[in-house]
Amino acid sequence: MREGGHIPIEQTVHIPQDIVSLCVQWSAGLDNLTENASRISYMKQKLPDLIADRALIRGILNNIAAGASYPDIHYAGMFDSEIILYRDPNRLFSLRIYLWDALEYDPVHDHNSWGVIGPALGDLEVINYSREDDGSRKNHARLAECGRKLVLQGDTCSVLPLDPGIHRTGNPNDRPIVQVGVYGAKLTDRNYVNTYDLVSGKISPLFAPPVKKRVVACKVLSFIEE
Ligand SMILES: [Fe+2]
Repeated sequence: MREGGHIPIEQTVHIPQDIVSLCVQWSAGLDNLTENASRISYMKQKLPDLIADRALIRGILNNIAAGASYPDIHYAGMFDSEIILYRDPNRLFSLRIYLWDALEYDPVHDHNSWGVIGPALGDLEVINYSREDDGSRKNHARLAECGRKLVLQGDTCSVLPLDPGIHRTGNPNDRPIVQVGVYGAKLTDRNYVNTYDLVSGKISPLFAPPVKKRVVACKVLSFIEE
């Protein structure tokens, strides 16, 4: 087990101490675990405490509304709704908050890691899909819906990495909701997640906007150099 408790100073400057304290505790707990199932089980025990902390959630929302330096709303992640709250210095996990306006959903997608997610305000819809194809057709998948649930405020659900965890999340309500999620260490070196078109079957990478600009620039350069 590594020594716990040391966080690089540059990461702690603007992070509320109560979030740092929780995350340092989670890091020590996760560091002892070797299976994704036990990591998910651990976070399903721990995350509800944060989700239920109305003062903490309200404080984060106040900061976002005010454009405060924490959390950094200018960091461009893959999902529009997503804001990063904390990254474990040893990359064991990250803590993220998601702001969903009424009736907003993300595309059908996979993840590069395990996750535990749940709504802190309102109810979150999670739709799971299974792959029905044999993977032989490049960048195509045939998906079938295999589960749909409403995760109630305060509850959590797990996300599996890659194909077993293909899903779509969003807000079925006519008012905004707030979701929190913890995602584990990346299992691949992908700098994107896959998104799936249910009609055409096409699989497309979803990059964070700055990464996409670099990827496309590289593609253009390859044409120029040919
Ligand atoms: Fe997701």
